[in-house]
Amino acid sequence: MKTLVAYYSLSGNVKYAAERIASIMDADLLELKPENEPPKNFLKFLFGGKSVIFGEKAYLNHFDEDPADYDCIVIGTPLWANRVTPAVREFIMEHPFEHKKVGLFASSAGGDAEEMLSHLRKLLAGNNVAAVMSLKNPLKMREEADAKIDEFTAVLKGSNAPFPVDASS
Ligand SMILES: Cc1cc2nc3c(=O)[nH]c(=O)nc-3n(C[C@H](O)[C@H](O)[C@H](O)COP(=O)(O)O)c2cc1C
Repeated sequence: MKTLVAYYSLSGNVKYAAERIASIMDADLLELKPENEPPKNFLKFLFGGKSVIFGEKAYLNHFDEDPADYDCIVIGTPLWANRVTPAVREFIMEHPFEHKKVGLFASSAGGDAEEMLSHLRKLLAGNNVAAVMSLKNPLKMREEADAKIDEFTAVLKGSNAPFPVDASS
């Protein structure tokens, strides 16, 4: 199963999970890099928060990977002000795909990502969202995160449901 792991990460937590998922699934990794990324210091909360609240567009650097070439697409994002990051929203809206097996995951500092993840499921209707995972501070809580990632990848590797089966969205 040809798999792409596409993710955005400002401070490394989603990156950590994405790299582990890609290694387990022997997948290609696509790090989404916006030109207009917030600074990595404390101002990230101000600029990042403003970008989601005002629905600002992320200007992604060019990438060569085409979702159409893959059977399975895994998408990872941090939770920002309870929402999806502009970079991941831009990826989904500007590179639409259908009839793929999809895995979604989020990383937060402790907040509940369920609402954001169910919003993403809706944006991805027409695909088989086979596995969803929510991580909390994976860089600080690696054991817990690794266990969840192992379960998430096992579900993705094992699920062969026909398309589309995402009836819950
Ligand atoms: C702009 C901004 C908004 C955030 N909003 C939330 C939030 O609403 N709830 C939460 O639990 N964590 C929030 N966080 C924390 C991140 O979701 C969390 O640290 C995540 O693991 C960061 O992933 P990264 O290291 O891959 O960038 C926010 C962080 C930033 C920069």
